[in-house]
Amino acid sequence: MDRSESRARESIKLIIAKHYDRESGIYDESRFKTSTWYRRIDEETCKVLNMYLKGKTVLELGAGTGRYGIFCSKRGFQWLGIDISSGMINKARENFNKYGLNLSIIQGDVEDERLYPENYYDNVICVKSFAFFPNPKIVIKNVFKTLRNGGRFIVVTANNDSLYARIKRPKSDLMNFYSFRDMKNC
Ligand SMILES: C[S@@+](CC[C@H](N)C(=O)[O-])C[C@H]1O[C@@H](n2cnc3c(N)ncnc32)[C@H](O)[C@@H]1O
Repeated sequence: MDRSESRARESIKLIIAKHYDRESGIYDESRFKTSTWYRRIDEETCKVLNMYLKGKTVLELGAGTGRYGIFCSKRGFQWLGIDISSGMINKARENFNKYGLNLSIIQGDVEDERLYPENYYDNVICVKSFAFFPNPKIVIKNVFKTLRNGGRFIVVTANNDSLYARIKRPKSDLMNFYSFRDMKNC
């Protein structure tokens, strides 16, 4: 990747962070309370997490307002979230206080390898965030570094062929969608 491409990808991250700073005030309302579409995705996500989470520890990438932190913590997992948007992080902390939960979420870029202790987590999860990462190979390398032997990487994201990807892709160059095969080959 040349320098201008790498600069372009860095500026995409800033645009995304600013976008979610602005969205943070209405994110939970618009996604989980009023939208049937997002509620369905949420229900399916919870089913998948119930089915596949194992062990004790969970790292969430692009954790947003902390919804799945609350979910994991209620099921006895030790959870840590990473998000790039300070607005989303503030909202997550508000949500944790509301539920009386002492959960940690840190502001950072999921590409930053310093955020990943070696051979530590039983699960890494990423819900509706993977498509925003401009350098997915770097993220996957970090995930494999931090997962324990036999650990799980659970990603909930629109498939490249999904209707959602077809609608979003021509309008936004901020998102990248992948097929299952692309993800495996990353
Ligand atoms: C659609 S939201 C999903 C939030 C949460 N996982 C959920 O399902 O409600 C995408 C989140 O990914 C975060 N994000 C995007 N790019 C990121 C990056 N490079 N590093 C960390 N977080 C990122 C955004 O700030 C945003 O909170």
